[in-house]
Parts: sequence; C-alpha cells; structure tokens
Amino acid sequence: MCGIVGYLGHQQAVPILLEGLARLEYRGYDSAGVAVLDGNDSMIQVKKQKGKLAGLKTSSNDFCLNAVCGIGHTRWATHGRPNDVNAHPHTDCTGKFAVVHNGIIENYMALRDWLISRGHVFNSETDTEVLPHLIEELYAGDLLEAVRRAITKLQGSYAMVVLCLDEPGRLVAARHDSPLVVGLGDGENFLASDIPALLKHTRRTYILEDGEVVDLTSTEVKVFNGSGDAVEKKVFEVNWEAEQAEKNGYEHFMLKEIHEQPRALRDTLAGRINPEVGKVILNEITLDEEKLKNINKIYITACGTAYHAGLVGKHVMEKMARVPVEVDIASELRYRNPIMDKNTLVVVISQSGETADTLAAMREAKRNGAWTLAVTNVVDSSIARDADDVLYTWAGPEIAVASTKAYTTQLMAMYLLGLYMAEKRGTQNVEEAKELLIGLRELPDKIETILKNGNIIKDFAAQYCSCQSSFFIGRGLDHAVALEGALKLKEISYIHAEAYAAGELKHGTLALIVEGVPVIALATQQDIIEKMISNIKEVKARDATVLALAPEGYTGLEQVVDQVAYLPQTHSLLAPVLAVVPQQLLAYYMAVERGCEVDQPRNLAKSVTVE
Ligand code: M6R
Repeated sequence: MCGIVGYLGHQQAVPILLEGLARLEYRGYDSAGVAVLDGNDSMIQVKKQKGKLAGLKTSSNDFCLNAVCGIGHTRWATHGRPNDVNAHPHTDCTGKFAVVHNGIIENYMALRDWLISRGHVFNSETDTEVLPHLIEELYAGDLLEAVRRAITKLQGSYAMVVLCLDEPGRLVAARHDSPLVVGLGDGENFLASDIPALLKHTRRTYILEDGEVVDLTSTEVKVFNGSGDAVEKKVFEVNWEAEQAEKNGYEHFMLKEIHEQPRALRDTLAGRINPEVGKVILNEITLDEEKLKNINKIYITACGTAYHAGLVGKHVMEKMARVPVEVDIASELRYRNPIMDKNTLVVVISQSGETADTLAAMREAKRNGAWTLAVTNVVDSSIARDADDVLYTWAGPEIAVASTKAYTTQLMAMYLLGLYMAEKRGTQNVEEAKELLIGLRELPDKIETILKNGNIIKDFAAQYCSCQSSFFIGRGLDHAVALEGALKLKEISYIHAEAYAAGELKHGTLALIVEGVPVIALATQQDIIEKMISNIKEVKARDATVLALAPEGYTGLEQVVDQVAYLPQTHSLLAPVLAVVPQQLLAYYMAVERGCEVDQPRNLAKSVTVE
C-alpha cells in the first residue's frame, strides 16, 4: 500500500521526507521518490527510483539541500509495473505540478484519453499521472481551486498531495477512501498517509475524513469539506508508540488486516462491475468470448489459503459457466501429469505471486498448452509476469503470515471470473447475475457489521482457548470455508483443527467427538440447512460444544447448539465471504489468549519461495 509524506516548514525537507517514508516501509512498497521545490523556488526537482528506500537515500545525498517544502512517496504497484518511470511523484507537462497519490483512479482511462486530446503527454503507465495533468488543465492561479475542480472529475479512491511551482509555501491535499493525516508542528506542518511518519516531529494531528481538502502552509492548516465549507477539526493527540501506530492502533497486523477487508473488497470490485446490466468488466484480461467458448475444462491450482479460495471458485465457476472445474494443490498438480490442452484454462491463485509450487504448477500447465490466468495481489510478481492473463486482487500488502484480506479478495475474484465467464459463454442468467452483483457490492458493509459484533467470538475464544482439538464442519460451500477456518486456527494458535464435510463425519471422525470438544458448524447454505442441522445434532448427541454460524433470521438453530453467531443475509453463493470473518476472529482471539506470536507463527513464512 503506498505511503505518502508531505512537509512544509523551515528545516531541510529531503531528510524529513525520507525519514517519514522509512516509517511507512511496513506498508510494503516497490519504489520510492520525492519532489521538492528547490531553495530558490525556481523549479520542482524530482528524484525517484525502483527499489528500496536505501537506494533512494544514497542517490539523494546532495539532493536539494536547501529545499524546505516537498512531497514523498513509497509505491506499491497497481497500475503499471514497478519501475523508475511509474514511481511517484508524477508531474504535468510543464513541470509546474508534482503529485503523490495513494488509491486507484477508476476512470483514469477516460480522463487520460481526454487529456491526451487536449495535448497532454503522458510518460508512465499509472492511473496517478492523470492527476498532475488534470490539475494543470484546470489551474487558473489557485492550487486549492484547481484541486477542488479536479476531484469532482475523479471516480475511485485517493489520498493525494500536490506541490505547485507557482505557489511555493503551499501544499494542497485531498482524501477519498484512502487515509491521510495532517501533523501539526511549530512553524512547520506535515501530511502523511499514516501516523508513524509523523511521530518523530509531532503527536498533534488532524485525521482527515472522506471528501476533505486541506490547504497547508508552514503556519496554517485549513480544512474544507466536500461542499467547500471550512471544517473545524479537532486535534487528535497520538498516545501510541511508533510500532503500535504502524498497526493503526491494532495489537497485531492480522487484526488490522481483518478490519481492512471491507476496504480491500471495495478495491477489488472498483471499476469492474455494472450491476444495472448484470455485467462484469475485466478489461485487463485477454480471455475473450471466442477463447472462453472453447474452454472445456478448468483447473484451479494454489496452496494453503489460496487453494481454499479455489475450492469456492470451483462451485462458483461450475454453477455459472457450466464447465467442469478441478481444484488441485499446486505441489500435487506439478507432478501428476495432468491432462491439459489448448482448451484448458488454468486459474492460478497466489497472494504473493511467488509461491514456488504454484509457479511450477503454472509452468507445467503452460508446457501442456493450457491458457493460464493468475489471480494475485502483487503486481509484477513472478506468477503475474509468467501468466497469460492476470487479475489483480488489490488487497494491499498483507504483512501477517496468516492470510485474511488476501483470501476474501481472492473469493471476490472468483465471483468476478465466474460471472464474466458465464456472460461470455452464454450461460448467464441475467437476473441472477444482477442480484449477485448487488450482493457483491453489499458485502463490505456486511463485513463491517460482523466486525462490530465480534464480541460473541471473543467470548467463545476466551472460554475454549485451552482446548486440544477442534472441528469445523459444513456442507457444500460451507465445507470449503470450514477448511479455511481450521487452517487459520491451527496456523496461529497451534490448536489441532480439522475441517470436515458434515455428512462425512459418521464415516470415521465422529469417533473423536467427545464431551466439550469445540465444533464450529457452518450453516449458511439455505438449500441444505436441514441436512446440516441433522449433522449438528450428531455432534451434540456426543456432547460437543457447538458454535454455529448462520444467517440472521434463521432461528431454527438456537435450541440445538450452544451459541449462534449470526451473519448478515446474503445470496448463498456469496456467504463464504461473510462466514470466514468470524473464523478469522476466532483464530485470532484464541491465539492471543494462548500468548502465541500472532503475526509470525512458528515454522511458517509469508512467502514460500522454496519447494
Ligand atoms: O502467496 P500465496 O497465496 O501463494 O501463499 C500460499 C500459502 O502459502 C498461504 O496462503 C498460506 O497458506 C497462508 N499463510 C495461510 O494463512
């Protein structure tokens, strides 16, 4: 996730910007840059490059030592690969404006075309570059006014800071759906995408709200709302230490990332759906109608959590696109000589895009002549580079080893792909597609509701955290999500957790169900809920303690189980996105209760680049 820093004051700007960016390194990035007004206010100087900040620091040793105003950025690539040109800050044609930006400008293609028709010349592949050109186009002597006019033309998310050669001593910033804070100093002021970047200089901040625009000088900070009215901001005194602030006040990255899911899912969807006509728009992939009509077999391959997303993908694609789908663990697929040809589509899912087994399975598929489509979170990762097509999930960097927001955004990608394929293959039920797209758009708000009601899960975790063994049961899609719930729990709390297809328990595993064993029972699939209740009764009859996850309004479970955590209602096909959230919280709270290293569980690594 990109990091932003802005400075305006009386000290040397470049070291302050670089030090602020260093405090944002935990957010993940692949390139970095700064732009400053040189000391004579004669030009904007930009220094930016691919790679880590250390490289930028070395090459900025003597860079604009007299500058007292500037902006800095660490970029996590979205639109365009990580390289020097795509790194921020970006400038306009005249070199009068420099902009740093965090977020995604969804309508950048249309804006870019319009700006090109007005004579603007673009250098990068980024969505961000439309911002300096748009501001250049709209500027009439007042930067604040130009930024205000520019943001009325934007769709998507942004936190941006703009520097203007003609107005030294002023920075203008704006935010919508991407964080931005102001740091209040003495004869100097700061902007940053996150509090850690400010803490060396000040603990007095303004936390900006969506739609707010800031006019900043070294001695004054004016904040305006979306209607242009001045806003009286309250000073927020930060009383956390830097390490806590990196986690935005959360105790662990995992909890932070669980809470980031609504935002991440909105980003995955951004610009990709039109619910009014029931259409998914995936302009980024080349898999067209003709190729899709010829596909007669789909393989999904991945590891761990990504594999679990693939299991949901199978249900979705088979139902919508009416093609048989096999889901294979990548370390198995690569050695099992799969039957594939040019009419096979292989969907490869990987958060990091670097998992060795997944990469090898994809290469095997390519050798067999299959078409490969990667679903990944990391731009320009090895898997993204090698695949025939890429669908990015836009979850932002995931730091905790346990995957959370990567999983839910992978699920979102599965729905998008399923709907897209159905439309292209002519198997789509338009009314159902519209309903599903509306349902997809509502999921982030519903996750927010689940997160607000997390206490039931926290209490359950406190009660059962000393158990030795636990079971997660479900049928159909619920079984796929139960597998993910069990993986989360064992991964970070070290409690043995086994996921089972509920109807299969009686063929062996039921022997392990004894008094007090916690069983998490997923009951979100309306068409088989009665069957599921019979399975829950089987474990209750052996005195298990059952926590059920069920849709709101379904009261049939209360007499049967020990506790029910209700999920907001949604289409059954979309229920996995909601049902996984309480399970993530359960794993998290159990691990915390047991004093485990939540973000870095023993024996595990975030990116598994060895076989
Ligand atoms: O980066 P990838 O998605 O390819 O990683 C795959 C697995 O290693 C990963 O999902 C792992 O299972 C997670 N740590 C589980 O939380």
